[in-house]
Amino acid sequence: MRPFLFVSDLDYTLVGDDQALEELNGELDKHRKQYGTKIVYATGRSPALFKQLAAEKSLLVPDALISSVGTEIYFGSNYETPDPEWSIRLSNAWNRDLVEEIAARFVELVPQQASEQRPFKVSYLLKEETATEVLPQVKHLLEKQNIKFNLIYSGSQDLDILPFNANKGLAVKYLQEKWQFTANETVVCGDSGNDIALFSVGEERGIIVANARPELLQWYMANKTDYRYFAKSYYANGIIEGLRYLNFI
Ligand code: GLC
Ligand code: MG
Repeated sequence: MRPFLFVSDLDYTLVGDDQALEELNGELDKHRKQYGTKIVYATGRSPALFKQLAAEKSLLVPDALISSVGTEIYFGSNYETPDPEWSIRLSNAWNRDLVEEIAARFVELVPQQASEQRPFKVSYLLKEETATEVLPQVKHLLEKQNIKFNLIYSGSQDLDILPFNANKGLAVKYLQEKWQFTANETVVCGDSGNDIALFSVGEERGIIVANARPELLQWYMANKTDYRYFAKSYYANGIIEGLRYLNFI
């Protein structure tokens, strides 16, 4: 057995079945203690909403938390000061006020709650019925202003606008460099649109849980390779199945 970098989304991937989560926690904790495996959560949630989930569910303390769709990275367990090196990288080509101003021109974009508006993340609710029409227009207007951005639509309801050099996958690359893990020593797990970046950033081993959302499934079908595994089981059971299939545990 060898150490690996374990990266998982939280909602509907790691979290969704409490019993399966307990079992997975046991495997991961053992691996971390015996071999030095690192555990990372990559979530769309802000630190505040992450803490709320951590209070409700039994989550292992991660070695790092990638929060707010990859725009913040926290080491340690107080989740108060994000890694400054990562923040500086993102601040380079970012104009948050201008992004907000442009998005405000679309009545279809309803701002999410205040806790989810972050220095490098502007987030809205957008109905699926209007998304296909509105998204290209938002993109077009942002491009016209010469803003470099990442537009991510997840779960048929959430729209995140981020700096061009931020997403969950790029944050994983940053941690790989720091901790010296290669793509085949890394496994990423997810269920929805903001997880596509985890799978597409390189050749990381991937686990897509059986309950994955259509936007991720569609991407998976169009980008099949032998290092990505589409599990038959849901949530943490799907992760356990995938870790065994990929020979990590
Ligand atoms: C989480 C965040 C939300 C984001 C969504 C999708 O639910 O709280 O702000 O839009 O993930 O990335
Ligand atoms: Mg999810």
